[in-house]
Amino acid sequence: MRNALTKLRSRAAVAVAVTVAGAFGLVAGASAIASVASSTGASASADDAALIKRGEYLARVGDCVACHTAKGGKPFAGGLPMHTPIGIVYSTNITPDAATGIGAYAYADFDNALRHGTSKAGYTLYPAMPYPSYAHIQPDDVKALYAYFMHGVAPVYQPHIPNGIRWPLSMRWPLALWRIAFAPDVATGTNAQAADGAAMSLERGRYLVEGLGHCGACHTSRGTLLQEHALTDGGGLAFLQGGVVEQWFANNLRDDRVDGLGEWSREDIVAFLKTGRNTHSAAFGGMRDVVLDSTQYMSEPDLNSIAAYLQSLAPARQQAALVYSNKAALALHAGQTGVPGARTFLDNCAACHRSDGKGYDGVFPRLALSSTVNAQDPTSLISLVLHGASMPGTHSAPTVFTMPAFGQRLNDQQVAEVVTFIRSAWGNQASAVDAGTVQRIRKSSP
Ligand code: HEC
Ligand code: HEC
Ligand code: HEC
Repeated sequence: MRNALTKLRSRAAVAVAVTVAGAFGLVAGASAIASVASSTGASASADDAALIKRGEYLARVGDCVACHTAKGGKPFAGGLPMHTPIGIVYSTNITPDAATGIGAYAYADFDNALRHGTSKAGYTLYPAMPYPSYAHIQPDDVKALYAYFMHGVAPVYQPHIPNGIRWPLSMRWPLALWRIAFAPDVATGTNAQAADGAAMSLERGRYLVEGLGHCGACHTSRGTLLQEHALTDGGGLAFLQGGVVEQWFANNLRDDRVDGLGEWSREDIVAFLKTGRNTHSAAFGGMRDVVLDSTQYMSEPDLNSIAAYLQSLAPARQQAALVYSNKAALALHAGQTGVPGARTFLDNCAACHRSDGKGYDGVFPRLALSSTVNAQDPTSLISLVLHGASMPGTHSAPTVFTMPAFGQRLNDQQVAEVVTFIRSAWGNQASAVDAGTVQRIRKSSP
């Protein structure tokens, strides 16, 4: 199977390249979507309150609401614009409204969309819908999700917004080739260990991260056809080694000691996912919403399972842990600001992150020895300085601390220098950043 896939992959790559390059993202035939609804009833067995409740929890884990809700719109009613290199695609209405949502979807139709990536009308969905990850969801969990969407979600009449993608890029057949080449086989049996969320287990963690949690959709880098370089840990070290999503770099989540989670304890990871902050870091960018909509609702056993699984991922690089150095702090205290970026740091950043780079626990994150600051890819750091960020206010940590934007006050050269400074001060050891990179990110900012 693997061989056949590899061959298919290279052939499909050639065939698809022209039409789909960039298209993976998202193109969509809106008229087709508008017409998919036909008539079949929901299964009666779905009427089970416990099943619906479990489905609701699983929908949280899968973060369906994130993509299927427009800003200020009704939950799951779709209409969120997703920007792609070839145009805008709008997410669909997945409330049980019969005319404009999925009310007329039989279980098989729902399963086909969720795990197989095919619509009720038979065409292939854009993998902006993370069905390559959802393929790992076990049938029992698909049933619970179906019960929830049919009986636990209020129907909303909201017609699909036509996508802004023109022919020929709006053709869907190349997506079918993409799907055959890159989507994994759909889970059939039930792995009891993975299914049972009552106690912490590595298998449960793997199941949630590789499947419903679709963490790799952001944290794994993508190839030229925008396929994830690995969909599971078995697929290689690229899995969860980090990827850029819009203007943010989703960190390396493997066990690397400098830029990964190698220095985080299991409790650290659980606290980050539950509260959006811990002694190492605070959530921002795309992760802010993941914490707000999804991970803060996860049960303690599930959070611990996820943390244990992430800690089991072999590091991509053998790295010695960084060691704190007080050289930069002493120099800043003594007013020695000859190093490029040091003056900018003192004037703009030190009030919160402090000249020793240690910040204030739970309020202003530390910059010294931080996996975020030492990330191989500096995209997040540049975006943070240009645009600022606000922590997620979660149920267990409601206070929102905000970092101001410096995009108006600092030019590209100054941003590059201050980011380079924090990447080399206090024992940090990350590469320098140049003004050209800052300019590119500033220009492509929404
Ligand atoms: C990262 C964004 C994203 C997430 C997360 C997501 N979806 Fe989707 N989904 C989409 C997009 C975009 C489409 C439309 C794709 C297209 O038009 O080809 C879609 C399509 C669908 C469809 C097909 C609808 C139709 O009209 O045929 C269903 C059903 C669906 N999603 C259910 C879910 C469920 C259930 C979850 C959570 C377990 C979920 N989605 C999570 C982006 C997402
Ligand atoms: C929509 C994209 C997206 C998804 C999906 C996503 N993340 Fe993230 N994640 C990010 C971004 C961007 C960052 C960097 C910003 C930050 O540190 O908050 C990040 C950071 C993190 C961090 C902090 C790493 C560090 O070194 O500071 C952890 C831990 C994490 N994510 C875990 C997860 C887990 C577990 C999942 C799946 C349940 C997940 N993420 C799904 C985008 C995403
Ligand atoms: C008013 C206080 C304040 C100032 C001034 C400030 N920051 Fe921040 N910074 C924060 C807060 C709060 C966060 C957390 C934001 C979030 O998680 O959304 C943060 C986050 C960060 C992070 C990410 C750390 C992590 O692991 O999550 C970096 C890097 C950073 N700031 C760098 C800087 C730089 C460089 C400057 C000066 C140009 C600066 N900050 C100025 C408050 C501040």
